[in-house]
Amino acid sequence: MTTDLQIDSSGKLRHLITLDGLGHDRISDLLDRAVELRQHFAEAGQRPQLLAGRTIINLFFETSTRTRCSFELAARRLGATVLNFDISRSSTSKGESLEDTVATLEAMQADAFIVRHRENGTPARLAACTRKAAILNAGDGNHAHPTQGLLDALTIRDRHADFSRLKVTICGDIRHSRVARSDIHVLSALGARDIRLCGPKTLLPVASEFPHLRIFEDFDEAISGCDVVIMLRLQRERMVEALIGDEAEYFSRYGLDSTRLGRAADNAMVMHPGPINRGIEIAEDVADGRQSVILDQVANGIPVRMAALSSLLGG
Ligand code: CP
Repeated sequence: MTTDLQIDSSGKLRHLITLDGLGHDRISDLLDRAVELRQHFAEAGQRPQLLAGRTIINLFFETSTRTRCSFELAARRLGATVLNFDISRSSTSKGESLEDTVATLEAMQADAFIVRHRENGTPARLAACTRKAAILNAGDGNHAHPTQGLLDALTIRDRHADFSRLKVTICGDIRHSRVARSDIHVLSALGARDIRLCGPKTLLPVASEFPHLRIFEDFDEAISGCDVVIMLRLQRERMVEALIGDEAEYFSRYGLDSTRLGRAADNAMVMHPGPINRGIEIAEDVADGRQSVILDQVANGIPVRMAALSSLLGG
């Protein structure tokens, strides 16, 4: 989809569905706002209640730990009321359409919906039918996970101001990954020119999807000299057939262990959006090692989601 649906006629961000086409300045503004909010919350007693009186509803049709909890904490820390909609006890199980469910909740004066769904395009579909409420995409199929892209960009920007000099390798199940797509969009918007995609042929995107990126099947080659290594989980829930052999073989070719990490630049950042599968895509000692910023990514999820919510809701 284009960004048109996300931007209102005055140029303001109305929904957050994708980072594709959002542009350098708008993304930088969101990251700057996240840094400001992070600073406020690091200083004792500073709790700007930017979302006081607002109601935010978590609508998660797929499981989540990081995204759901950090959206909830972000919203509550800014003073919002948060409702975690229980799909299993809702009238969606009686055949109510998602559009009708959202319209019903909007009539109860919900200001924003955080939507995760297995089908590409569901958040955009809902954004097209809300009257006033904002839709924030918390991950749809393999399409987009914009707040993950933003928090990954912030984690990198905390250490590297100039994206144009970065060498980034994204390795693993790229074909099924909404995180990879949002990371590619945000890194490209911020100026990264050397983004390498690596994985077995069966888990790579079709070459025409990212014609400007280099694609590798050899991880040792792809990781060489990299400043940032982003590892991805095998997303078996989105595979319609078995696309890899056994996990030990996968790890030996595409797992990140300390020997392979030694081929990257000194102090290269090790990233992973989680949930991590130790010993399948990343070795235990690398996941917990000094170059790992996996928990920094998690921590940055809160200010990034505060920034997104307060931007959309005008706080
Ligand atoms: N990174 C991520 O989306 O994690 P969750 O599935 O736990 O939200």
